[in-house]
Amino acid sequence: MYEYIPGIMREAAKIMLSAHDIDAAITEKTGDANFVTKYDVAVEEFLFAELRKLLPHAVIIGEESDNNHTELIRSSVALIIDPIDGTTNFIHNYRTSCISVGICDHGTMAYGAIYNPYNDILYRAERGCGAFMEVGGKVIPIHVSDRALADSLTGYGTSPYYREELGRKTFETAWALFQHTRDIRRSGSAALDLSAVASGAIDVFFECRLSPWDIAAGSLLIEEAGGVIMQFDGSPITFEKPCPIAAGNPRALKEAMDLGIFR
Ligand code: IPD
Ligand code: CA
Ligand code: CA
Repeated sequence: MYEYIPGIMREAAKIMLSAHDIDAAITEKTGDANFVTKYDVAVEEFLFAELRKLLPHAVIIGEESDNNHTELIRSSVALIIDPIDGTTNFIHNYRTSCISVGICDHGTMAYGAIYNPYNDILYRAERGCGAFMEVGGKVIPIHVSDRALADSLTGYGTSPYYREELGRKTFETAWALFQHTRDIRRSGSAALDLSAVASGAIDVFFECRLSPWDIAAGSLLIEEAGGVIMQFDGSPITFEKPCPIAAGNPRALKEAMDLGIFR
């Protein structure tokens, strides 16, 4: 059944790529600079309709839905969807956004896929089966890197919707990390950042607060690619509410933890 999901995501991405007059399609949500477009809503509705056919009894949790029951995640099978991760990039035509679909089985991620329609790369993982990247018609197994922190390329997100609360902490943490690494990047899509960790392009990533739909698919990709994802204090991540995220290859992430970078 999972094998049908990438095709559904590729179809949904056509809605993203067909976008025009995005400025006229924006609505503001709660939080700082938190926008949604009619395209986010259209992609989510398409995914819900199609994925429901595969999983008729699943609880559906989508970023643009009003009635997300994340408290049911531990007691049910849940589809966790971010229709467009990187909406601000999308609005600005920065061409770095993706669709993220995760299936969580009683609190444990069972399947995850992330599709970037701008470079036509699809990442997918099924628990216990490894992580893969589909590019140019080929399916390639992916793995996290083995770089030490001093040799690492790192990434972070700015938690832009909570900037008053978390902005200073974010940039202090980025500064602390930057000093021990080769460089640091900010892509504008947490799901693509987590895919980059899984494929070994980025060695360590952090963001002070991410939501279940930002991390669901990416977390499984990282685990199946041999990486680690956790909260800043080392506790397991949760899909029941937003939480801080630190991820990376086990070696570089441990070095960063031992240095006390994530507080
Ligand atoms: C956002 C992106 C961004 C991250 C934010 C997320 P959205 O998701 O992943 O990179 O920094 O914290 O909320 O709103 O574009 O789906
Ligand atoms: Ca998101
Ligand atoms: Ca989104």
